[in-house]
Amino acid sequence: MLYDDQAARFDERAGVPTDAAEAVAAALVEIVGPVEGQRWLEVGAGTGGLSLPLLRMPIRYTAFDRSPAMLQVFRERADAAGLAPELRVADGDARWPAEDAGTDVVFSARALHHLDPHHAAAETRRVLRTPGGWLVLGRVRRPPDSPKSVLRRQMRRMLEAQGFAGRSHQARADAVFAALEGAGGRRVQPRVAARWTGAHRPADSLAAWEGKNGLAGIEITAQVKARVLRDLRKWAQAEYGDLHRPLDQEEAFELEAIRVPTG
Ligand SMILES: C[S@@+](CC[C@H](N)C(=O)[O-])C[C@H]1O[C@@H](n2cnc3c(N)ncnc32)[C@H](O)[C@@H]1O
Repeated sequence: MLYDDQAARFDERAGVPTDAAEAVAAALVEIVGPVEGQRWLEVGAGTGGLSLPLLRMPIRYTAFDRSPAMLQVFRERADAAGLAPELRVADGDARWPAEDAGTDVVFSARALHHLDPHHAAAETRRVLRTPGGWLVLGRVRRPPDSPKSVLRRQMRRMLEAQGFAGRSHQARADAVFAALEGAGGRRVQPRVAARWTGAHRPADSLAAWEGKNGLAGIEITAQVKARVLRDLRKWAQAEYGDLHRPLDQEEAFELEAIRVPTG
C-alpha cells in the first residue's frame, strides 16, 4: 500500500520543522476560534508531525489514516511525548470513523488529494456538528523554481509522456471546496502559517521516489517507474550537475479553510 513502505523515513523526507508545526496549530486556532471542548477529526494524519501540537490543545482529538505503518510512527511519537491520541486505521474513501454531527473541525494536511473529492465533501458534511463547522486543509508550498518543485514538475511531465497523470492536490482540494460551497459553505482567505528555508539535494528527491511504491500519488508498474526515474536522473544531471549538492529551498505551510453549514 502507498505510504506503508515510507513510514520509517517519511519525517526525514517530508517532515515539517517542529516550530512550523506549532505555528500551524496556532493558525488553526485563529481560524476556527475558541477550541476548548471541541471535537476534531484529522484525516490522513500520517506520522503525526503536524498533529502533536494539536494533542496538547483542550480538544477531543481523533485521527485516522489508511496506513497502519504511518500511524504506528505517530503512536510512538505521541507515546514519547506522554500523549495517547485516539488513532484509527480507516480508508478515507469509505465511512470516516466519526459519528454523525459530532465533530467541530475536520483537518487534513497533504492527504486529501488521495481521496475522492465528492466523498470527502459528503463525509465532511455528515460528521460536522449542527449548525456547522470547519474543514481546514493544509499543504506545503514552494516557489516554482525551487529544486523540489522543478523536479516534481519534470517528473510529472515524464510520467504524462508515458500516459499517466499524477494526482493534483490543488485540483482535488478545489473540488472539495466547490462541493461544500455548493452546499452553502463560505471560504476564508488562505493563510500562510509558517515559512522556513531548508536545503534540498536533487538526489534526495530521486532516492525518495525510487524508494517508495508508485509515483505522484498513483500506482504504476515497476517498469514504467524505472523508465521515468532513469530519464529524470539524466535530465537532473544536465540541469543541476552534482545531484548531491544541497540547494536552498524556501517552504511555506498554507491553510485553506471553509465554514460549512449543516442541518
Ligand atoms: C503526505 S502524507 C501526509 C501525512 C500528514 N498529514 C502530514 O502532513 O505530515 C499522506 C497521508 O495520507 C494517507 N492516506 C492516503 N490515502 C488515504 C486514504 N484513502 N484514507 C486515509 N488516509 C490516506 C497516507 O497513508 C499518508 O499517511
